[in-house]
Amino acid sequence: QALDPEPISPSRTTCPTLSYPNTRSSPTSQPVPFQQPTGLLTFSYTPQRVLEFTDSALRYYVDPPPGADLRYGYDRWIKRTEERTRLDGLLRAVERVMSKADASLGPGSGGKWLKDISVVTWRGIMTKILTAPYEERDRCELNAMYVGDTLYIEEHLSDARLHEKGDLAPKQRQMTYYGYSFESWCTSSKPGVPERADGHPIGWGGDVDTNVQWCNVIKTKLGDNRLIIGGEVDCVRDKFNGRTDTFVELKTSMSIRNAGDEARFETKMLKFYMQSFLLGVPEIVVGFRTPTGRITTTQSFKTVQLPRLVRGKPGAWDPQICFSWGQQFLTTLKSTLSASPEPTEAPRGESSSSSSEPLARVWRIVLAPGEGAKVSLLD
Ligand code: A3P
Ligand code: MG
Ligand code: MG
Repeated sequence: QALDPEPISPSRTTCPTLSYPNTRSSPTSQPVPFQQPTGLLTFSYTPQRVLEFTDSALRYYVDPPPGADLRYGYDRWIKRTEERTRLDGLLRAVERVMSKADASLGPGSGGKWLKDISVVTWRGIMTKILTAPYEERDRCELNAMYVGDTLYIEEHLSDARLHEKGDLAPKQRQMTYYGYSFESWCTSSKPGVPERADGHPIGWGGDVDTNVQWCNVIKTKLGDNRLIIGGEVDCVRDKFNGRTDTFVELKTSMSIRNAGDEARFETKMLKFYMQSFLLGVPEIVVGFRTPTGRITTTQSFKTVQLPRLVRGKPGAWDPQICFSWGQQFLTTLKSTLSASPEPTEAPRGESSSSSSEPLARVWRIVLAPGEGAKVSLLD
């Protein structure tokens, strides 16, 4: 079921803005614990963008060759068509986990398991929610549905935003490619052995096709909220054993030349950290590059050490501010959405489903930089 009725009509029910905590003062409340994520299942998207429950898209980490050229293969980039990232793939994975529970623990076990889950969402969305107190530029819009006792959250992209993402300026498009090209230089289909393919430099992992992704679905707990999160994992070191402890996140960044660059890098590390931490990815390999896309050095960071690395620095951030905000946000959202009475008539736009079964309503959440989260019911 699509969560995203377009065009948006003005909302009727608007809740008070939930303001962000002050990021300049230390958190006053007790630390909010974040449980170590446990892997539930993995899946792959094929070059045809078909989701399959296999590890066909799994890749292994290899060191990139010295001075790797991130422009290599740009003309052959198969770029996935920009579309709204619905929850469909993740919901299929959740269904699969539930049927496995039914099969092994008895009928109804899957449903019972899901009842305990507060939130089902993609990792990218959870990253945006948790880092929102620090976001200075980008406004983010989400759709949320409350079904059973679970919140389902997906991103809302306006037509204009979607068009913008699919139609990048040439320079922007080239820079975006650098990130994917780095993934190709750093990965191989065999553990520890750089790729060798006729007509390509040694170490080139294959032409970039952004349709192909390897995804992992995990469960974790933030404070009292159990979460199911799905997201892409760039590669693993040496082997994949069903756990997250061999996962590696790959990132590129401009080489650091002065104190200003360093502070910008520290700030940026919040997103690297949160993105990796949420899926239990323990290692982040950063490729530092020149403006024209040559890798100068690579550096491996341990995800859990990043908060200490930035502490007291100009670009510092504190993950506890994010977790405590996240806990407050999710708890408030759940109580707001569950307290709102069910609609008396079937929502507009209902077509195929039976009329006695009202569709769950869709709420719009706006994460406004510097302000807070605004929640309203879509008409
Ligand atoms: P970099 O992060 O090295 O710039 P991810 O790092 O999440 O695995 O994503 C791989 C690459 O996709 C990124 O590489 C970047 O090129 C591109 N990308 C991901 N998210 C993006 C965003 N919000 N805007 C622009 N490019 C993005
Ligand atoms: Mg990735
Ligand atoms: Mg990456």
